[in-house]
Amino acid sequence: MPIEVHRLAHGLGAEVLGADLSRLEPATLEAIHAAWMQHLVLVFPGQQLTNLEFAAFSERFGALEVLGSYQGLDEYVDPACRGLMTVTNREIANEPSRTRAVGRKWHADRSFVPQAPIGTFLYCRELPDVGGDTMFANQYLAYETLSEGLRAALDPLWAVHDVLGRHDSLVKALSPEQVAIKRRMDPPTAQPVVRVHEVTGRRALYVSEAVTTRFVDMTEDESRPLLRFLFQHSVQPTFTYRHRWHVDDVVMWDNRCAMHLALADFDPRQIRTMLRTSVVGPVTGHFVDAAAGAAREAANELPAA
Ligand code: SIN
Repeated sequence: MPIEVHRLAHGLGAEVLGADLSRLEPATLEAIHAAWMQHLVLVFPGQQLTNLEFAAFSERFGALEVLGSYQGLDEYVDPACRGLMTVTNREIANEPSRTRAVGRKWHADRSFVPQAPIGTFLYCRELPDVGGDTMFANQYLAYETLSEGLRAALDPLWAVHDVLGRHDSLVKALSPEQVAIKRRMDPPTAQPVVRVHEVTGRRALYVSEAVTTRFVDMTEDESRPLLRFLFQHSVQPTFTYRHRWHVDDVVMWDNRCAMHLALADFDPRQIRTMLRTSVVGPVTGHFVDAAAGAAREAANELPAA
């Protein structure tokens, strides 16, 4: 049966009906890929998948990203598949979940590493009574609606993406030792300000309020006014789609041309649980400080702690 694709918003997003993600024919997979390139965010309602079937579906779009043990998230990783993790506010051993506040600022996933994931997949397992929504914003539109002059000025620029630059509640909760490990293992990365999508050839803005701290070769003070403008411009309502989750929804998005935001619009005493996978893409960035980058590469060769 061919899939049905229904748009969900002007900016981006489409619902896909008629696909059982646990067994996809090559032609259906191709149709899903084409819809993903066109709509950036796809929603598959009512999927009945095991954890491993969800991971296997994600893997059809690329190799799964595996987070190093230094991230301190091993308890959230599925032992049967290290590329599969749980994003939840459920306590583990009476400790607040370390993934409880993931994604609370607009971002493209892990743009602070040189080889950031091109796509991310979430599978909804548990939801609060109301809320727990995720928003998405089309970064092709963000780029294409800038003036010709600003587009030309931005095209050659690079910006610094820094995981510790986001100052959110998860970063503030890190101990000094954890900050030192993150600084060593995820040193600031330079990424192009305008990212050219390898498949569509379209240009998208690739900066985010979560982790972009300055333009390369400029100070934070010099960069701030233009970055502030871009952060606001890039998430205006006409570019966005807000997903209201149902249990068993699978949602996939393209980090090359869409940003997202996990809204804290729910009662934190109620449980919200998502399975999450990401697929790796090409190397688009490089470490800002070559020595820090070399030290990081060397650390990568050591066995996981
Ligand atoms: C994320 O930012 O990857 C998580 C998004 C969400 O939980 O809605």
